[in-house]
Amino acid sequence: MHAMILAGGLSHERDVSIRSGRRVMEELRDAGVEVSMHDVDHGLIPALKEGGVDVVWPLLHGASGEDGSLQALLEVVGVPYVGTTSQAARVAWNKSVAKTLMARYGISTPDAVTMPQSLFREVGAEQMLDSIAAKLGFPLVVKPVRGGSALGLSIVQTREDLARAMVHCFAYGDMALIERFVEGREIAMSVIGSGDDARALPGVEVSAADGRYDYDARYNPGRIEYFAPARLSVEEAELVAHTALRVHQSMDLRDLSRVDIILDHDGVAQVIDINICPGMTETSLMPQAIGAAGMPLRELYYAIAASAAS
Ligand code: DAL
Repeated sequence: MHAMILAGGLSHERDVSIRSGRRVMEELRDAGVEVSMHDVDHGLIPALKEGGVDVVWPLLHGASGEDGSLQALLEVVGVPYVGTTSQAARVAWNKSVAKTLMARYGISTPDAVTMPQSLFREVGAEQMLDSIAAKLGFPLVVKPVRGGSALGLSIVQTREDLARAMVHCFAYGDMALIERFVEGREIAMSVIGSGDDARALPGVEVSAADGRYDYDARYNPGRIEYFAPARLSVEEAELVAHTALRVHQSMDLRDLSRVDIILDHDGVAQVIDINICPGMTETSLMPQAIGAAGMPLRELYYAIAASAAS
């Protein structure tokens, strides 16, 4: 089998993507797969058209890989690929649309309001922020509607800090999601497979001593304590697994995904993010979940690539 890994791209998560790509490449090579790695640039279509690629594994995080456009290109070229289709990716990538859909499926997600950058520039934006703050209360989470790795994300404690958080957010995208902050334990749930064959891996609990699971903490070892598997009762583990599977299946996600959940103090599993192309770096959550399930990475990655190729 010849697998082509796509990594890099032009999103803010380019470096993370390259790190994910290298890790998966090493594991696939060890599993005996012939692997090449390609960036998403003008050489990609000719490389795909040359033939000889049995499967493409897009490991592009952020706009160029998770918004469905790359998947649409692969569908046009007609090469099998790992992961969610273009149509489902477009929906999952937009946190606002995904939240609306999840609410319809009865999946809990923190209350939120979206605000486009154009509106933020209008006269009256301050009053709008007042009414959003009054509706949601503090603390608030401000993050780009389309984004990942906590880039552009702020936790806002007071009204004075809200405008600054909005400006920071708009550096990463033109639409902000202002979300109620939910207190609880953060559990990352990885799901593998598709449709009725999908299954949730053990949860990974993220514990940040200073409460900040930001970009730096995600990709530099030391600031975060991870518990894999998460410290959950049997009932709690079932609840988060069921919630993640519901998200994966109802949003038509394919092959692999990661659903980030806050298990709040009332025992409700609130979904705070969906990743159709979860990080696979040495500090990322999905490889930890695979380890907690007792699966060698290379065997699982081989099985994912082989299944997508067939
Ligand atoms: N968006 C990054 C890659 C993650 O959540 O793992």
